[in-house]
Amino acid sequence: MSQREPIIAIDGPAGSGKSTASRLVAEKLDYLYLDTGAMYRALTWKAIRENSDLTNEKNLVELAKKTTIKLTKDRKVFVDGTDVTVPIRDPELTKRVYYIARVPGVRECMVALQREIGKAGGVVVEGRDITTVVFPDAKTKIYLDASVAERVGRRHKELKDRGYSAEVDEVEKELHSRDEEDRGRKIAPLRIAKNAVVIDTTHMDIDRVVETILDHVKHPKARNE
Ligand code: DC
Repeated sequence: MSQREPIIAIDGPAGSGKSTASRLVAEKLDYLYLDTGAMYRALTWKAIRENSDLTNEKNLVELAKKTTIKLTKDRKVFVDGTDVTVPIRDPELTKRVYYIARVPGVRECMVALQREIGKAGGVVVEGRDITTVVFPDAKTKIYLDASVAERVGRRHKELKDRGYSAEVDEVEKELHSRDEEDRGRKIAPLRIAKNAVVIDTTHMDIDRVVETILDHVKHPKARNE
């Protein structure tokens, strides 16, 4: 793949701090930020809206093919022209993304779109399969992680900040089931890519995470061989 500018690929489980860190790294470098989870969420939004049978893979692939998903520079998400930035973060929708993300034909559409957006480089792309499937040749490949307790705490705070009421036990249950789904999926499961730099963010504040990533961008070292 020819790249004019570097691609920074970041994977990790829910609550690892990927989104905030990726966005800030993109801002610092004046790169585009591509949140691929938002794309799977956007299609889930449409499937729910259309009362699609979430277990009918053929229909979901058809739906993916005829849906236009747009992510703007100011981090808004549009589905066929409708702004879905806020509703795609709804916890009830989050539970259903799994049905969409496990369908190979749907992933093909999403990956094609992600590669199209990222092909000129100068982009920070985050998700679950970015370092392994979407951009395995990215200049910088990062796997962000954190302890379960820390990830639960972050997710709980995030939900509360967004105005959702959530019990910690509920959040923990949801996180475990998302981990299982992301790691246990047959297609493009969450894995630490060969050559990825693993960063445990459990005891790091966000500024340190960003600095550590930027340091790896500038001085590539210590990798998961
Ligand atoms: O990063 P997120 O929580 O917004 O992602 C929502 C879901 O989308 C996540 O549980 C799994 C799926 N996803 C995926 O399968 N592949 C990606 N590259 C990004 C997200």
